[in-house]
Amino acid sequence: MKVLVTGGCGYIGAHTIVDLINNGFDVVSVDSNIRSSTQLLDGIEKITGKKIRNYKVDLCNLEDTHAVFHENRDIVGVIHFAALKTVPESVADPLFYFHNNLASLVNVLKCVKEFNIPNLVFSSSCSVYGNTTELPVVEATPLGEAQSPYARTKQMGEQMIQDYSKVNDTQSILLRYFNPVGAHPSALIGELPLGRPDNLVPVITQTAIGKIPKLTVFGHDYDTRDGSCIRDYIHVMDIANAHTKALQYLLDQKNTDNCEIFNLGTGNGVTVLEAIKAFEKISGVKLNYELGPRRPGDVIAIYANNNKAKQLLGWEPNIGIEDMMRTAWQWEVALRDRVLSN
Ligand code: NAD
Ligand code: WQD
Repeated sequence: MKVLVTGGCGYIGAHTIVDLINNGFDVVSVDSNIRSSTQLLDGIEKITGKKIRNYKVDLCNLEDTHAVFHENRDIVGVIHFAALKTVPESVADPLFYFHNNLASLVNVLKCVKEFNIPNLVFSSSCSVYGNTTELPVVEATPLGEAQSPYARTKQMGEQMIQDYSKVNDTQSILLRYFNPVGAHPSALIGELPLGRPDNLVPVITQTAIGKIPKLTVFGHDYDTRDGSCIRDYIHVMDIANAHTKALQYLLDQKNTDNCEIFNLGTGNGVTVLEAIKAFEKISGVKLNYELGPRRPGDVIAIYANNNKAKQLLGWEPNIGIEDMMRTAWQWEVALRDRVLSN
């Protein structure tokens, strides 16, 4: 069975392709490489022995997108990862985000409709909940005000798919990821942030390896157990496996709703300082960090109730914070070693 993965050259797309292949699916990818190269496809080939075809196509271009669907009309589903994801960049240039993330989705939906593709899985984000105080967050928790244009593209993307699914035959799943981190245990694929990263785990590993001089903990006077913010970090391979399970759930026609939503988190809240300690423990590296001011727009704490995904998809996240840090660190070291050997 063949699956079309958009954004397959990116971080979560690449890990998901590995999981799909391990579960017997064939995969084709569409990625314009606006935020990636084909480097992770090489890693996928080393891990699985399968060469993945990538169509270097901007999904905002309907004609080119249509041509990909036309050539792959035998696909059983689309997993749509392709999007821009940097929160501060979206604040600085909202139109860039609205155009890229939403025009591409409209085009994907147009092709899904025209070619009668039965199943669609969409990458959403816990950022759709906004500044919620209801913890842990369940799928039915009302969505708050989006804190950035990026988050708004995820709220709007969800609504577009919900409206579309009401009047079309496609069955859809919206997966709300919490904080995906870590890398494949082979260290052949992982996250490749362009420029200086904003997310905690790449900042930790890049500080440890010396690319960044110092990590600042954004806020240490919050009303939490150690004063720093709480997030639900989840290993990217657990996230990846949820996509295979979601697709299988749709293929088995187990869904009762045309568009179902699932939270993908571990359910465990971890503070920034706990994440740093976990990293120091597994790496043996003393991290150069300082306690600094709060970062504007940060929610104090957010973590998932993941019961729905466990019960309906039969999914179980089983990689803990130390292995998240271990694999992220092994990937960072592998990246450095590759540069040194070239
Ligand atoms: P990524 O940047 O590594 O991968 C996204 C890929 O999409 C990139 O390879 C990029 O080149 C491609 N792309 C972007 N716009 C495109 C377009 N118009 N046409 C074709 N390709 C295009 O990001 P990721 O971390 O793998 O994220 C994947 C998805 O998950 C995104 O939708 C993101 O918003 C969502 N998400 C990510 C996180 C996270 O923390 N990484 C959290 C929640 C949700
Ligand atoms: C985590 C914690 C920071 C860097 C973002 C997006 C969200 C989703 C996931 C896509 C926070 C703290 C960070 C640093 C720090 N992405 N931190 N020093 O903000 O939860 O979510 O990624 O959908 O939409 O907003 O993740 O990794 O940036 O931060 O102290 O140098 O680490 O304040 O408490 P966040 P993050």
